Amino acid sequence: MCPESHVVFDMPFNKAKDRYHIMDQDFLHLLQKYNTESGQKPLSERLNEPDRFKNFSKAAGNLLLDFSRTSLDQHALANLLKLAAHSGVEESRERLFQGVEVNFTEQRPALHMAMRSDDVLDKLDPETANRVAKTRDKMLGFAAAFAAGHLPGETGQLVRHIIHIGIGGSVLGPRLLIEALGKRSSLQVHFLSSVDAHFRDRLLADLDPAETAVIVATKSFTTGETLLHARRVMQWMKLELGRDAADQRLFAISGNTAAVEEFGVPQANTLYLPDWVGGRYSIWSAVSLAAAAVMGEGAFQEFLQGAADMDRHFQTAELEDNLPVLMALTGIWNRNICGFPAQAVIPYDHRLRSVPAYLQQLVMESGGKSVDREGQPVNCATSPVLFGEPGTDAQHSLFQMFHQGTDIVPLDFIGVIRPDHQDEEAHAVLLANMLAQATALATGTAGLGSPAELDIHQQMPGGRPSEIILMDALTPSSLGQLLALYEHKVFVESVIWNINPFDQFGVELGKVLATSIQPALQGNSDAIPESYGLNALLEYIKNR
Ligand code: F6P
Repeated sequence: MCPESHVVFDMPFNKAKDRYHIMDQDFLHLLQKYNTESGQKPLSERLNEPDRFKNFSKAAGNLLLDFSRTSLDQHALANLLKLAAHSGVEESRERLFQGVEVNFTEQRPALHMAMRSDDVLDKLDPETANRVAKTRDKMLGFAAAFAAGHLPGETGQLVRHIIHIGIGGSVLGPRLLIEALGKRSSLQVHFLSSVDAHFRDRLLADLDPAETAVIVATKSFTTGETLLHARRVMQWMKLELGRDAADQRLFAISGNTAAVEEFGVPQANTLYLPDWVGGRYSIWSAVSLAAAAVMGEGAFQEFLQGAADMDRHFQTAELEDNLPVLMALTGIWNRNICGFPAQAVIPYDHRLRSVPAYLQQLVMESGGKSVDREGQPVNCATSPVLFGEPGTDAQHSLFQMFHQGTDIVPLDFIGVIRPDHQDEEAHAVLLANMLAQATALATGTAGLGSPAELDIHQQMPGGRPSEIILMDALTPSSLGQLLALYEHKVFVESVIWNINPFDQFGVELGKVLATSIQPALQGNSDAIPESYGLNALLEYIKNR
């Protein structure tokens, strides 16, 4: 548990140094000392401090962040805010929005905000801005045609099903959007991501190629899983419809126009994805074509606007009022000062069931780095393991460990105040469960006055932190705000950790190895290099 400190101190900023990061050991150690040298104050007591909620919650737009169930106190928060300022959060934020090459390992800016905010779009050179705006219009035109049940410009060519092929950032966003905001529609969207063919074969057996459109979403157009699925699906389609008719039903969203053309996607069916939109930030782009078709243009635009509103809040609010900054500082506190290794996200709304999967990529691909911006090994912890499950289901799987396990896992509860259904009782039960879990985690049995003689196995220690993020209602705008909030939170943490959050080289080696292991599995090559340490296992597989 992170205890409260009564030792008052101020971070010793050295004027000779213009930047501090959490890795500056004086910083980290002082904050840690602040915890360990001081007495322990149970979270249950903190929660009863006057103005605890007022001091440890903040609202912006349609969101409220309540971080009163953490072990932060005013003094620690004030010092963390200083850390944010001295880490250069404001300058880094400016550089991000100005389009500086913040993704310096890949020599590119990270300008996904230009996909949703006209303020940012206007900062691009006119040719690029024009291309982005035109692509968005073209995408919305395609979406409207699909929603109306036909191919773009071909009212006689039916579309009742879309197969969206993509993986990682090229599928998580549209899937989340459709689950969260999809309207009742005769248009069915099916997602193919992992290269496993079981699901694909079952799906194709149920579909009619003459009523199906295929969207291949891949920024690089080199992703093995996506291309294999795309080849198989197009074979299926061509067999039935012939090459030309099948190609008419094929759409691509990519930054690699040459590869798209070589694959046979008609130029007219191609939507461009700029290289400065990272895969895990591409929900705002044409990658969400299928989702825009199911949500409708108005809702998709509102979704973008919600995120643009959060961008503006992040850019303009003072650090102490800034939701992404406060959330990042809570994350830093839990990870670096308290040393908690994981983070769970539990949305209490079935429509948000894919938020944990979406955030896994955003948080762990961005923050999972061990080398700092100067190329030195980091000397503090970076990304926690992030995982989650919707509530109340998660209560019947994960929560035993959250309450009584040996590791403390801070939680993000995400709740929606006003539902879109009429079952008031069901919604009250849902929200009551969320609030009950947050309370039980924080206070434990003793904090609630349970008898001291309670069997030890039944006691809950409490002191387990969580944040509650409340949306007034689940609307396109509030979902845009929520996702942009997490994006900027991840960015602020990366500044404090002094890492590049926009590359993901860690995923590459496994991809390369797979290409040499695959022929060995298919019996097309004798053996793989000894250094893989896999030959005995391959032999075992071959003999089964
Ligand atoms: O997992 C690595 C990754 O590059 C992700 O960052 C990306 O979202 C995903 O693969 C898919 O990449 P692409 O859109 O290029 O197929």
